[in-house]
Amino acid sequence: MWKALSLALLRVAAAGEWNFTVYSAPIKLRYGEVYNNQQGPLKLPEHIVSRYAEDKEMAITGFDVEMVRQAADGSEELVKLNDHYLHHYILSMGRIETMNKVLQHAAEDKMFARMLRGCHGMTRAPIHSFLTQLGDNEDLVTFGSAAGAEYRHNPQRYSAPFRRVIKSPQVWVPTFHVINTNKPLENSSVPYSPLLECPCTPQRKIDVAAGTIDGRDPDPPIRCSPSFAATGNPSCSLSTYVGGWRCCENGVFLIDTDKQCKDPECSEEPEDEVFMKYTFYYEDATPETRHMEPSACCDVTGTTQGFENIEYDVPVCAAGTPPGKCLHIVETVQPVGYYYRHPKSPNDHHKATDLVDIVFAAPHLHVAGLSLELIDEVTNKTLCHVYASKDNAHGIMYGNGTEAGNENGYMTGLLPCVWGGEEAPRFQRNHPLRTRAVYDSSRGHTGVMSLWLMDVSPVSEPDFMI
Ligand SMILES: *[C@@H]1O[C@H](CO)[C@@H](O)[C@H](O)[C@H]1NC(C)=O
Ligand SMILES: *[C@@H]1O[C@H](CO)[C@@H](O)[C@H](O)[C@H]1NC(C)=O
Ligand SMILES: *[C@@H]1O[C@H](CO)[C@@H](O)[C@H](O)[C@H]1NC(C)=O
Ligand SMILES: *[C@@H]1O[C@H](CO)[C@@H](O)[C@H](O)[C@H]1NC(C)=O
Repeated sequence: MWKALSLALLRVAAAGEWNFTVYSAPIKLRYGEVYNNQQGPLKLPEHIVSRYAEDKEMAITGFDVEMVRQAADGSEELVKLNDHYLHHYILSMGRIETMNKVLQHAAEDKMFARMLRGCHGMTRAPIHSFLTQLGDNEDLVTFGSAAGAEYRHNPQRYSAPFRRVIKSPQVWVPTFHVINTNKPLENSSVPYSPLLECPCTPQRKIDVAAGTIDGRDPDPPIRCSPSFAATGNPSCSLSTYVGGWRCCENGVFLIDTDKQCKDPECSEEPEDEVFMKYTFYYEDATPETRHMEPSACCDVTGTTQGFENIEYDVPVCAAGTPPGKCLHIVETVQPVGYYYRHPKSPNDHHKATDLVDIVFAAPHLHVAGLSLELIDEVTNKTLCHVYASKDNAHGIMYGNGTEAGNENGYMTGLLPCVWGGEEAPRFQRNHPLRTRAVYDSSRGHTGVMSLWLMDVSPVSEPDFMI
């Protein structure tokens, strides 16, 4: 069993034959400030657009992510996590016309817009549903993932014949959530910036009766499964919410600006500028290429298809608990695939009994995460398991140095499980999968996540579009 698992973990499929690199628009932040913005549409290179303008489809085989600072002479420097912290990103790529239809719809429909920018954007369900209605289902692909601090050691490589297939790619629309963490820690009991846990500062106006933060609905909405809410996790209710994504909106500061700044915008602080850099690996799709689509699993705060609260808090363990015994464990069971008439995907015509192969499972955890396990709920077989270890060899990596990718005390890597055509586990869409997440609770944490950012591939697509 372990052998098969480590094979899946370690197999990094060869990159496709070709690659291209694109940069984001600048991300400008002062210390303590949050960027949570959708950019673009940004143009893809002309040779990509023209290659796939007619009948060929682009098959993305993987991509690399980097955060860089550009010097006046054009040279690049890698940005460390204790300089700027990437909380997460979401990518869309496709035909400009389709992208504009989606953005137009988002401008008219607040809920749809929130779903795109929020974590539901990553599940693609709202876009899928909208495009199915339009009949443009393959002209826009949303992918990327929550992959945050661990983006440097989180190889996005898919095993043949599974590919992210895009028809007529012309533009990309990235959403980035970044925090400027660029000040030395003072008197801190932890080696990482406390800002990455998005503390709700005294400046946040939380109105429990109105259900708002700073006059707006929390985004994403606060909503845990009944079973997880019953554990009393502070993150499941606005009245007990003290930190996390909902206090981490665009332009917000994660420091007490009354005490630490001259004005609410900290305008005396210098504004810094960084860029995200993506290198995509691709080939032409062939008749053998099989499409990837988002899985309906797994977020430990939910029990239905897709993500629910997405984040939660890890309360500190009881005083006197021996250090190695301070563990916070959450489990849940969710179906592997999206299927018919799920509210998040009302136009989905997949049947519960349709078959899918699991092809890619990227764990997503925050600092203090110790283990994430994906288990077949029917057979109890472990499908993917990552855990932290001193040698960083079991899928969860922590830094112990100073260089980019090895920042001391930060979670610096999470290795996905990847399956190729022969070995991909095959299930009905409604097959239950269990996720078990373990965090070190020797201190408290806000806004942690325990997700599998997973892709499945339909075994056949009989009534994919109606
Ligand atoms: C990207 O493609 C160029 C040729 O266009 C090649 O020289 C380079 O090695 C490739 N990079 C990677 C990382 O594969
Ligand atoms: C850090 O500790 C020193 C010594 O106890 C104290 O003088 C200083 O004000 C502290 N700094 C902060 C930001 O709390
Ligand atoms: C799976 O584990 C559960 C809980 O330990 C147990 O009740 C069940 O019988 C197991 N199922 C199989 C097929 O081993
Ligand atoms: C840092 O971690 C690596 C494993 O990733 C280990 O080989 C190395 O000895 C560690 N260095 C220190 C100074 O602890």
